[in-house]
Amino acid sequence: MDRKEFLSAIGVSAAAFTVMNCLACSKSSDGSSSGNSVSGPTGVDFTLDLTATANAALLTDGGYMATSGVIVAKTTAGAYIAVQQSCTHESYPLTYQGSSQQFYCNNHGSAFTEAGVVKNSPASRNLTVYHTTLTNNSLRVYS
Ligand code: FES
Repeated sequence: MDRKEFLSAIGVSAAAFTVMNCLACSKSSDGSSSGNSVSGPTGVDFTLDLTATANAALLTDGGYMATSGVIVAKTTAGAYIAVQQSCTHESYPLTYQGSSQQFYCNNHGSAFTEAGVVKNSPASRNLTVYHTTLTNNSLRVYS
């Protein structure tokens, strides 16, 4: 059963479901307007040992990991990139989708290019991007 069939079965139209979703995300719990102000961490400067098991995802093109509020990814072209982990909409943790060359938010569907630029709303603010430098097996990530 797909999403449309499920909603139909419980008597909710797709349009009504969309409205419910929008109502749920338009206000935060304190009643203020929602998101689009989430910045990445500042003063970032850490080094990842690519020979460590914990960082093994970064040995594969399209792999990624998150640490210290930063997503570090290896693109399908083999380049290392790093952006803030939190979606700029409402702070949900992003994932990296190497095959689509984007960062993606499962919460409301925002997507960002590998350069951190908004591709799909509701996010309207670009991601904070960090520098990466690879020296032998050490990957430095920094502001
Ligand atoms: S938290 Fe809403 S799109 Fe990411």
